[in-house]
Amino acid sequence: MSDILSSFICFEGLDGSGKSTQAGLLASELEKRGRKTFLTAEPTDGAIGRLIRQVLRHEVRTTPCALALLYAADRNHHLYNEEDGIVRNIRDGRVVISDRYFYSSIAYQGNTADVGYIRTINAYPHPEYVIYIDTPVDVCMARITSRGEGKELFDRTEFLKKVKDSFDSIFTALPPEVRFLRVDGSAPVDEQREKIASFVSL
Ligand code: TYD
Repeated sequence: MSDILSSFICFEGLDGSGKSTQAGLLASELEKRGRKTFLTAEPTDGAIGRLIRQVLRHEVRTTPCALALLYAADRNHHLYNEEDGIVRNIRDGRVVISDRYFYSSIAYQGNTADVGYIRTINAYPHPEYVIYIDTPVDVCMARITSRGEGKELFDRTEFLKKVKDSFDSIFTALPPEVRFLRVDGSAPVDEQREKIASFVSL
């Protein structure tokens, strides 16, 4: 039996996949159902998450392995800090929705450092629900470019293809207790929203 956190939902997907939009829409839907929700994201906006964003913006330099450890440390704080951590919010009766979780580390950092090591430092509980917004790399790239974030486009495309393959194998091997939904991220936003809303019975 795997370790599962009830009332915890995570969204995963490539950059530009549209997962943040769907995470927000699901939070509104659950609020309409009368549930209290906590919508959150990784990297967090806490001290470790801010350091990660400085690394991503090339303002701070480090090694791929140190960056992987920062993501794992940010996640530990995100889960377990007593002020506004995921576990604390669940205990207080909220449904927690996170835009990204440890599957992102396995898919992204697993392509830049040893994947066995990345799994070891991310031995965190699975969420009750994993919703994967599966969007073609070219659609993601078009969205990233239109946000003005499209630097080193070719490298980015090749990297996202590898990350997408990794997500595919990670989600094929999820424990059976995790409720997993794959959503076509190139479908209309409202169609995706409806599929997700009817899948989540919280
Ligand atoms: P995210 O905040 O989802 O992107 P955006 O700023 O577009 O909303 O994530 C920022 C980047 O961090 C993204 O390229 C994915 C990457 N990332 C990892 O590589 N590993 C991780 O464990 C996480 C949580 C994110």
